[in-house]
Amino acid sequence: MIDLVPHHTSVVPRLSDVVAALSYALDITEGQPEGHAARTCMIGMRISRELYLTPKQRNALFYGLLLKDLGCSSNAAKVCYLFAADDRHLKAELKTAQWTGLWGRLGYLAKNVAPQAGLFARLGRLCHVARNGEKAAKELVELRCDRGAAIALMIGMPTDTATAIRSLDEHWNGGGHPQGLAGENIPILARIACLAQTVDVFLRRDGLASALAVAQRRAKTSFDPDLVKALLATRNDHDFWRLVHEPDPLAAARAFEPPDQLLSADEDALDRLAVGFSKVVDAKSPWTFRHSEGVADLAVGIATTMGHSPDFIRSLRRAALLHDIGKLGISNLILDKPGKLAPAEVATMRTHTLHTRQILSRVPGLSDLADLAAAHHERLDGKGYDRGVPAERISTESRILAVADMYEALSAKRPYRRDLTEADAREIVRSNTGTAIDPAMFEALECFLGKSDWQPCKLAA
Ligand SMILES: [Fe+2]
Ligand SMILES: [Fe+2]
Repeated sequence: MIDLVPHHTSVVPRLSDVVAALSYALDITEGQPEGHAARTCMIGMRISRELYLTPKQRNALFYGLLLKDLGCSSNAAKVCYLFAADDRHLKAELKTAQWTGLWGRLGYLAKNVAPQAGLFARLGRLCHVARNGEKAAKELVELRCDRGAAIALMIGMPTDTATAIRSLDEHWNGGGHPQGLAGENIPILARIACLAQTVDVFLRRDGLASALAVAQRRAKTSFDPDLVKALLATRNDHDFWRLVHEPDPLAAARAFEPPDQLLSADEDALDRLAVGFSKVVDAKSPWTFRHSEGVADLAVGIATTMGHSPDFIRSLRRAALLHDIGKLGISNLILDKPGKLAPAEVATMRTHTLHTRQILSRVPGLSDLADLAAAHHERLDGKGYDRGVPAERISTESRILAVADMYEALSAKRPYRRDLTEADAREIVRSNTGTAIDPAMFEALECFLGKSDWQPCKLAA
C-alpha cells in the first residue's frame, strides 16, 4: 500500500473529496445517476454506526463504498457482446433484478437480451446466454472485481478497501461471485457495500419503505441478516434519510468520513488517481486499452520537446490521462461498433467531452483541467466539438492533446477501419494541420518521434 498523507491544510484538497467527485465517473459507467456511489457511501457508513468496526475499518469502508465500481468498465465490452445490448442499461437493470431465483433470471434475460434484434436472432442469443450464462456471469464478475481491487491498491487505498471491492458481489447464501463465498466468510466491508448499493438503487426508484422491504426480503439470500437488522434500526433516523436525499450528495457524503482518519490528496496522490482512473477509462473498450496512457506519453513528449516547464507538463499529463473519462458514459454498442456510426450515434459519441468537463470540473485539485481536457476534439477551423470554439480560444494544452489524441488513435487498431502504419498515421495527422491540428504541435510531435530535425523554441524561461 502507498503511504497516504494525513490531512492538515485547507490548501491541499481532502482525498475523500477528490475520490467522491471521481466516483461520478463510475456511476455513469454503471448506468446509475450521478451521486449513486456517494449516496451508497452515506448509507453504508450509517449502517456501520450500528456495528463495531475499528477506525481503520471505517476508513477502509468509506473509500470502499465510494470506489466499489472501480472495475466496472473492464467487463462492459463483454457484457455488451454477450447480451447484444447496451451495457449501461443492462447493468442498471441488473441492480433491480432478483438474479438469484430462476424466474428472476429468466425475466431479466427475456427483457434485456438483444432487444433491438429480430425474433430469431433474439431467440438465438437467448439460447447462447442460457447455455453460457452461469460461467459467463462468474467470469464477468471476476474480471470486474479483480480489476477494481487492483486499481484500488494502485491508487494507494488500504488492503481492506481492495478486499471489499473484490468481494462486492458475493451473496450471504453462497450464490454470488466470483468465489461463491458464504456467510461470514465474505469480508464484512463487502457485505455492507453490497447491501448499501442495493438500498440506494431502490430508495431512488421506489422510496425508503420499498428499499427496506427489498433488504428484508433478501436477508439470508443476498444480504447478511444482521446487517439488514442494522439497516432497519435506522428507519426512524429521519435526519439521516433527509441527508441522503440532498441534491448535492458529494457535500452530504463528506460528513461521513471518519474524522480521525482524514487524508490529503497531495500532488503524488493526484498523479496516482489520474493514472488509476485512466486505467478505468482504457478498460472500457478492447480497442482503447492503452489509449489514455499513450496520449499522455505523447503529450508529455511533445511538451518536453517544446521546452515547457515541469509544472505545465505535470498538469498536461493528468489532463491527457483523463481526457476521455467522459467515454465511461457511452455504451460499448457505440464505442466498439464495427461499422460507420449513424448520425444519432455520432451525436452520442460526441457527448463524451461534455461528460469529461462535467466530471473533472467537480474534482478538487483537477477542476482547472476540465476545460482544456474537454477541448481535445476542438479544431483550429472552429468545426470541432463540443463547443466549436475558434483557434484563438483553444489553449496550448488542448492543441497538444488534440495532436497526441489523433496520432494515438490512428496508430492503434480500430474495429471500423484497416490497421494503419506509423507513416500512414503521421501522414493523416499532417493532412489535418492548419484545419484541425496546430502545425507547430505536429512539428513537435514529429521531432519527439524522431522523424524531424525541427529545432524547438524554448518556451520556458
Ligand atoms: Fe475523445
Ligand atoms: Fe481520446
